[in-house]
Amino acid sequence: MKKLLAILLLAAAMPAAAKVDVASLKVNHLSEPSGITGAPTFSWIGSSDRSSDSQSAYEIKVYDIDGRAVWNTGKVLSDNSIAVRYDGAALKPATRYTWQVRIWDSAGRASRWSAKQTFVTGLDTWKAQWIVPEMTEESPLLRRDFTVKKPVKSAIAYFTAHGVYEPFLNGAKIGEAYMAPGYTSYDHHLMYQTYDITAQLRRGVNVVGAELARGWYLSMMGWTDPAQYRSNFRQKEWALLAQIVITYKDGTQEVVATDADWRTSTGGVLHSAIYDGETFDAAREKALWCTAGFDATGWAAVSTADYGYDNLVPQDNEQVKTEQTVAAKELLVTPKGELVIDFGQNLVGSEVIAFTGKPGQKITVSHAEVLDENGNFYTINLRSAKAQSNYICDRTPRRFTTRFTFYGFRYIKLEGIAKEEINLDDISAQVRFSDMEPTGSFVCSDPLVNQLQSNIQWGLRGNFVDVPTDCPQRDERLGWTGDAEVFARTATFNRGSCAFYSKWLKDVAFDQLPDGQVTDIVPMVHGLVGAGHVGWADAATIIPWTIYMAYGDSQVLENQYESMKRWVDFMAGAAGDSYLWNTGWHYGDWLAFDVDNDVAGKSSVTYVPVLQQCHFANSASIVANAAEVLGKAGDAAYYSNLAAKAREAFCKTYVTADGFLVSHTQTAYVVALIYDMVPEDMRPLLAEKLKERVESYGHITTGFLGTSHISNALTACGMDDVAYKLLLHKGYPGWLYPVTMGATTIWERWNSMMPDRTIPDNGMNSFNHYSYGAIGDWLYREAAGLKEAAPGFKKICVKPHPGGGFNFMKAEEITPFGKASSYWTLTGNIFTLDVEIPFNTTAEIYVPTAGGYERHEVGSGKHHFSSEI
Ligand code: BGC
Repeated sequence: MKKLLAILLLAAAMPAAAKVDVASLKVNHLSEPSGITGAPTFSWIGSSDRSSDSQSAYEIKVYDIDGRAVWNTGKVLSDNSIAVRYDGAALKPATRYTWQVRIWDSAGRASRWSAKQTFVTGLDTWKAQWIVPEMTEESPLLRRDFTVKKPVKSAIAYFTAHGVYEPFLNGAKIGEAYMAPGYTSYDHHLMYQTYDITAQLRRGVNVVGAELARGWYLSMMGWTDPAQYRSNFRQKEWALLAQIVITYKDGTQEVVATDADWRTSTGGVLHSAIYDGETFDAAREKALWCTAGFDATGWAAVSTADYGYDNLVPQDNEQVKTEQTVAAKELLVTPKGELVIDFGQNLVGSEVIAFTGKPGQKITVSHAEVLDENGNFYTINLRSAKAQSNYICDRTPRRFTTRFTFYGFRYIKLEGIAKEEINLDDISAQVRFSDMEPTGSFVCSDPLVNQLQSNIQWGLRGNFVDVPTDCPQRDERLGWTGDAEVFARTATFNRGSCAFYSKWLKDVAFDQLPDGQVTDIVPMVHGLVGAGHVGWADAATIIPWTIYMAYGDSQVLENQYESMKRWVDFMAGAAGDSYLWNTGWHYGDWLAFDVDNDVAGKSSVTYVPVLQQCHFANSASIVANAAEVLGKAGDAAYYSNLAAKAREAFCKTYVTADGFLVSHTQTAYVVALIYDMVPEDMRPLLAEKLKERVESYGHITTGFLGTSHISNALTACGMDDVAYKLLLHKGYPGWLYPVTMGATTIWERWNSMMPDRTIPDNGMNSFNHYSYGAIGDWLYREAAGLKEAAPGFKKICVKPHPGGGFNFMKAEEITPFGKASSYWTLTGNIFTLDVEIPFNTTAEIYVPTAGGYERHEVGSGKHHFSSEI
């Protein structure tokens, strides 16, 4: 009876299902915002039980820690729900705030107030001093104790380091981040992390500490002798900066910060570096070193350093965290007798091995993405990266893992342990990368294409470890701009990428050369590689525009505008009066199809000036468009004129009257079509040539710059059949070839592994390179047919492209307005289309019919269409 009453009471307390609702609150595009400085922006997702409904008004309230409203917008008549900027009195530093929102729909119905989202503000004044433990191979531990004598209202901790660090309080790690403070162009931009530690603090003695390791800051980054290049990092020693701001219930504040009173020693990590891996000695670990009971007499003093605070900024992207744990699948004994664990998935992160060893027993764990043709462990493609963990046991049960590096691997090889000692259930792998929200899914009737989509998503997981990287395993793992440029559109469909790219783009601008050239990698390692290369440098224009279109917040354009302009101005300067940009060495259509013996002229090498001109014009157009969005009419006119001139020069110089390009390659036609280089009436001529180029080879021949667009170009020219033929080609080169070879990620090369499973040792052969995965954009956008028709999906276009023998495709996307989806089926000639359009958006739907597309305008809600085709 009591129970029944409780249920009844609960039911009565629950409000009736809301008709208009609001959820998914974000501050600065983050669902776990912290370290907020300046005036934050607020976003939310509304919903309604009515179709064709939209937001007519909103009201936002921001509360301080005592629940007092510090900002109340009142009812604002607006349909905006993306990045509404705070406009109240300045927020206090080191303070916890909450906010909530309610909305009204088009019929004037109000939602409930949303649940509150918490955010903590950043620091305005650093009192902490940089502390510098001695630079040795071993990772330093740093600690100090402090006493809390009064009841605490809040305690906010700020940490950053030269190197990477893990923060601790009273014996437990603070937060869940790995690889903090992240990888940035450190001289310009070093992020600090903000942690709300109120719940972890206790009355009496507390101990705060951190463990440091080299990380990106102090590891060798790059593949040549480090003496040859000038590091862009200011120091060659590690350092820690930490400040805790305690606010007591009586209103007073106290600061505990790094200073000369901190003490240091070493712990279990004997060595750690990004490429090499990590060595941990359990016997050397100092148990409970960060607890009050620990006796730290004998720990060394630290020195302090005057590095200043000028480059410090709060972390404004997602932290690197463990996203999932993958169980070990199989223990193999290779023909060579190696003990190898297969995780069944090429992934990025670290192994976790629960094991109780004998004192001094050293287990060496090597990492590999593939086995060779004989089934032996293969590490040649890691080049100079050792990628090894060493775990030295004591006699206690341990959960060995690395904490300051990451590996790209599907297989691990175990040495120093007998086969009988290995228990598969005790071995797993943690997948670690920037904690970006999953926002997209794509499924279809072809299992091989579904595997391709899975490989694309795993490529994203593996190459988004705080910066967008080329690959996660060998001695690179660098922020290659070209790779980022070709993959960004696909990334936005699969994960919430706004904060991630916005953060990295700031470094693109910081590292840009004084003459406007954009560096090949960001953060830049000077002397390692160059700058100003076609397709790579265009990351500076293409990615901000991509992010703006996907998320609808012009802030990224504002942030990047000068940088975007400077890159285009560089090209314009180099082109001069001819408007032809054709100078300099370039990577070109990197990794295009190449035959060893080219007597038949079948290698597919695109004339680089053709690529240059197309990218020059495209980037100029992007700047013109950005100028328009930002209300800079003069610039808009200037850059659109520049783009027109560049296109004119292209047509005059590189195109014949019959629509031949001087470079008769798939990539040349693709890039010319995608970047609108020829007048409308010439497009069919170029399209014809592109088709001929595809048919004459019978497969794709494009490299990085062509591959990311070839399917889109074919669809844009009405050649879906050709696009599908390329997609479904199962031999080399083609997207499905690696899939048929059992790939679980995207390969760097079309032939990273040959059909007989031999692996060409060509010095550059990663099995986890996302670039060719850029077809993911086409799968969502064209094949399934779901794309933005206005920035941020405020207007949506659903235009499926059935074909290729598929019976269904379904793309779902959590847009800034909520879930949108396009699901089509084809049975015989009966086509059906089910569409979901989120609240506060509208859509144009194109239903394929026998006679072409039939256009419908719809509002939010679910819509069903069918036709005969
Ligand atoms: C990287 C690439 C990069 C290229 C430059 C390679 O070593 O892995 O993906 O874009 O160099 O051409």
